[in-house]
Amino acid sequence: MVFKIGILISGNGSNMLNIINACQTNFLSSEVKLVISSNTKAQGIKKARRKKINTLTIEEKKFHTKNHFEEEILKSLIKHDVNLLCLAGYMKILSKEFLKKWKYDILNIHPSLLPAFKGIDAPKQALDLGVKFSGCTVHYVNEDVDCGKIIDQRFVKIDKKESLTSLKKKILKEEHKLYINVIGKLEKEV
Ligand code: GRF
Repeated sequence: MVFKIGILISGNGSNMLNIINACQTNFLSSEVKLVISSNTKAQGIKKARRKKINTLTIEEKKFHTKNHFEEEILKSLIKHDVNLLCLAGYMKILSKEFLKKWKYDILNIHPSLLPAFKGIDAPKQALDLGVKFSGCTVHYVNEDVDCGKIIDQRFVKIDKKESLTSLKKKILKEEHKLYINVIGKLEKEV
């Protein structure tokens, strides 16, 4: 199946850019229809615009309630005909109400080998505990944060003198491969 992808971001957008590039170079058959940022300062928005992708910034603080904020996201996704939602560094939690209303799959990428190190600062959690391997996971999004069914993972080895910066960089490199491979796999399966 060829997806019409919507991507939610809040920051740098390197995974987002990688998905856009994969679509534009035909590594993937799908198309990125819309990128929505929850944050006006997100670098990712500029990157998406340079790639001629429709972008929107929808900030929660502009709405009276989280529900209104998410209604606006939902409306925009529907308007752009999106049928696969990818979270890529989206720093907000989608509410149960949103998940009920959204009829298609939602994917997220997380910088650890889930179920280890859920939540924020996953690479730091891994370093602090002294694990020897970490990595990244793409999973379906459900009501419980970082708990949805795992689709695929890639691992990295943590060296003796690994710094947080070098670990994050290593993981991000694997994330870029993982996310587009998962979408490619879903294109073939669905
Ligand atoms: C990634 O590490 C991803 O796993 C996490 O947020 C980070 C986003 O990075 N969810 P980027 O914005 O895609 O560069």
